[in-house]
Amino acid sequence: MDASAEIAPALLAWYDAQARALPWRAPPGASPPDPYRVWLSEVMLQQTTVAAVIPYFEAFTRRWPDVTALAQAEDAEVMAAWAGLGYYARARNLLACARAVAAAGGVFPRTEAGLRALPGVGDYPAAAVAAIAFGERAVVVDANVERVVARLFAIATPLPAGRADIRTAADRITPATRAGDFAQAMMDLGATICTARAPRCLLCPLRAA
Ligand code: ADE
Repeated sequence: MDASAEIAPALLAWYDAQARALPWRAPPGASPPDPYRVWLSEVMLQQTTVAAVIPYFEAFTRRWPDVTALAQAEDAEVMAAWAGLGYYARARNLLACARAVAAAGGVFPRTEAGLRALPGVGDYPAAAVAAIAFGERAVVVDANVERVVARLFAIATPLPAGRADIRTAADRITPATRAGDFAQAMMDLGATICTARAPRCLLCPLRAA
């Protein structure tokens, strides 16, 4: 068997045992979480760490529990609630997207292509929400995943030129089912073991894969 075929099962087994419990997640293998919470978390997490995002995510979901509530908020209220997270274009795009979804009946599109068509939703969040909230087999590549995949396949081409090879490799190892858990497992691996500066290779669940 191609060693690539062993990566997803090994990673998912590790995730089943070690997944970080985060407020926007469903436990491994459980039915998918609310798409609104997944979308909100992915927008917040794009340039910000998990630890910094958690209190903002809690505050936003308490105040605006669904996309329709957020769509009805005043711009200034949302900008004030966002203060401290940085990259304020994200907050403006967040509102534009919430209003587009609310105008379409308050239901998020279920596919990567449909999500990508929403205002301010780029390639990464479209793939992440499609996989995590809707179970689509989308290939989810953020900076952490790029590092993990480059190391797994010894892709030495520097970024940005290496990105195409990394994407091809990520596509090859993404499983047909549990793509959302797989994406989040790759993120957890990158955040806790396959770290940028001091990777803990002896603990890697993919050492033997
Ligand atoms: N970074 C971006 N999305 C994430 C997620 N769903 N879980 C953990 N870290 C992330």
